[in-house]
Amino acid sequence: MKQTYIKEISRHLGQEITIKGWLYNKRSSGKLGFLEIRDGSGLIQGVVSKKDVSEQTWENTEKVTQESSITVIGIPREHPKHPGVYELDISDLTVHQLAQDYPITPKEHGVEYLMDHRHLWLRSRRQHAILKVRHEIIKAVRDFFDDDGFTLCDTPIFTPAACEGTTNLFEVQYFDEKAYLTQSGQLYNEATAAAFGKVYCFGPTFRAEKSKTRRHLTEFWMVEPEVAYAKLDDIMDLAEKFIGHIVGRVLENRKEELTILERDTALLEKAMPPFPRLQYDDAVKMLQQAHTEGKVENLFEWGGDFGSPDETYISSQYDKPVMVHRYPAAVKAFYMEPDPQRPDLALCVDVLAPEGYGEIIGGGERASSLELLLDRIKEHELPEEAFDWYLDLRKYGSVPHAGFGMGIERCVSLVCGLEHVRETIPFPRMLNRLKP
Ligand code: 4AD
Ligand code: MG
Repeated sequence: MKQTYIKEISRHLGQEITIKGWLYNKRSSGKLGFLEIRDGSGLIQGVVSKKDVSEQTWENTEKVTQESSITVIGIPREHPKHPGVYELDISDLTVHQLAQDYPITPKEHGVEYLMDHRHLWLRSRRQHAILKVRHEIIKAVRDFFDDDGFTLCDTPIFTPAACEGTTNLFEVQYFDEKAYLTQSGQLYNEATAAAFGKVYCFGPTFRAEKSKTRRHLTEFWMVEPEVAYAKLDDIMDLAEKFIGHIVGRVLENRKEELTILERDTALLEKAMPPFPRLQYDDAVKMLQQAHTEGKVENLFEWGGDFGSPDETYISSQYDKPVMVHRYPAAVKAFYMEPDPQRPDLALCVDVLAPEGYGEIIGGGERASSLELLLDRIKEHELPEEAFDWYLDLRKYGSVPHAGFGMGIERCVSLVCGLEHVRETIPFPRMLNRLKP
């Protein structure tokens, strides 16, 4: 018999259907079995009544264990007291494989234990909801750019040089030479933007982050748009529209998942443009004022990059994402365009998420002068020969251009309201985790 997915059950009320899935949970009294069944698309409660089924089906009902794979035949109906909730009256149950001692039980487990069993943990309701939201976000990201005239131009993972500084590069042996896993597709985006005007890349990105924080992975997915002729203000406009679009789509299409995650959606509903814009100088004043008032421990000095506690304080002053722009050039990457009014500042922006989720977007305007870039490459002690192709972009029709990068996992953790990014990707890679 043809398989019906639980998600589509409301279209089959009163009809006999077949569901193929796994046993999520079970309760039984001598005559009735209540089976919670999942099939990847959803969960449904099935009821087996001893008197109405074959001996074999009742035997199977009694022996079936958590996460055994099963096929059930039954008739779905709406719950008498809860409209929109469906139950299945089961007439037949077969067991494909009887799972023994499933390691994740309904009792509480520590997070390290769950991470060790990530390949199984993914089956649980909460993890399922998070990854459904991730999928929705990725779809929203692609639709946003595809519908706005951007061309997807994916960038390489093996690269000859660093984009975001040399301290967190993963080195690999590439035949007879050394290569690095990409930290960002940006430099290649700058080339494709000169060919296509508006482009984006979207793929895995690597940073050998030696610190254990709740916001860092060593492998994460970044989406990066780049726009020829765009200035800093243009990409700030783009960034706020982009986040508003993503959040709007999840609110619209993933209500059920947000409910499972107990996400306060009132907070999400506020993440709509326009976002406040705050110059770095003013953010520093804000932190110094907070120090005077005893609200933050450290006295922040102008010139440094913000750490997590600084970002958290700044963003706590707003109920939507805040865009901090014009950081000191010295704390930013080599490719930043200086502010013509104050050349010690870079025309860059970090979007800091509310509720302490930290920086979700980083970007800015790119240096368009060949001389300046050559100086910066030297200052940053980067190997000039690895950048010859990049410098060509400044020799042949250089234009102002700008773009940004957003880490998908940071975005998922903001949207889902998660403490730690480790649950936002199916198999996280962190300092101390390469398995499963
Ligand atoms: O601020 P970042 O380092 O910017 C760049 O790489 C630019 N080249 C992007 C561009 O302009 N095209 O990283 C961008 C974003 C951060 O805001 C954050 O969301 C995410 O990437 N990110 C990480 N996410 C998880 N784990 C890490 N270790 C991350 N590092 C950055
Ligand atoms: Mg950054």
